[in-house]
Amino acid sequence: MPKVFLKLVLIGDVFLFHTIVELEEVDSTNEFALRMNLPEGSVVVAKRQTEGRGRKGRGWVSPVGGLYFSLVLHVGTDNDVSPLPLVFGVAIHEALSRYCHGLSLKWPNDILHEGKKVCGILCELNEGLLIAGVGINVNNAIELEGAIPMCSICGHVDEHKLLSDILQSIEHFYQEFAQNGFTRIREEWKKRSRMLGKEVVVEGGPIRGKVEGIDERGCLVVVTAEGTKKILVGDVSIRFI
Ligand code: BTN
Repeated sequence: MPKVFLKLVLIGDVFLFHTIVELEEVDSTNEFALRMNLPEGSVVVAKRQTEGRGRKGRGWVSPVGGLYFSLVLHVGTDNDVSPLPLVFGVAIHEALSRYCHGLSLKWPNDILHEGKKVCGILCELNEGLLIAGVGINVNNAIELEGAIPMCSICGHVDEHKLLSDILQSIEHFYQEFAQNGFTRIREEWKKRSRMLGKEVVVEGGPIRGKVEGIDERGCLVVVTAEGTKKILVGDVSIRFI
């Protein structure tokens, strides 16, 4: 059983995220948040994970030096929250860009530097409970092809300060989404992505074409030889060609 510290923390003027559960080690912060049935606004952060989960059933290698955390949000069942993974992507891109230049968003919410992954986000929604798990390569030595830590781009980054900046940014964009919907954030996403106009192929599917943008639900809009297709935020990968 991992050691658990419960703290009430006011980070800057952040109010949504009020309780930080800090763990030395855990299987997965998403899994921990789920099984502990934590209240809305809880944040679970771990120094390392033994069974970090990624999208599409993949794992997430989580050695010390990275930032691994999950947010607990009760989004209900009445609202369409399909753009939320992209909202988190924009918010985290904004915070990370205060430290490192040259970061961009890859649909739906990967954060890349020169094609290599700095941050991944796994949103798991079940009966109105959303667990948003975020993994960031910060100061960890990472030997995976296609991944890069922030420290290799912009030097050592204070992980606590980074978490605080990210939570403030998510607070800001989450409020914007709750009050005004996805319209403005969608424009932000487009500005922060380098995918527009690029040729892509949707993994495992016959879809191949040019990225036109994203729609009001966060779907990727691709113009193909057979017409315009919309790809839902889900279990697909996009590859540049
Ligand atoms: C991806 O595949 O790009 C998403 C990776 C998400 C990893 C984070 S690390 C913290 C949280 N806990 C997990 O088990 N996964 C997410």
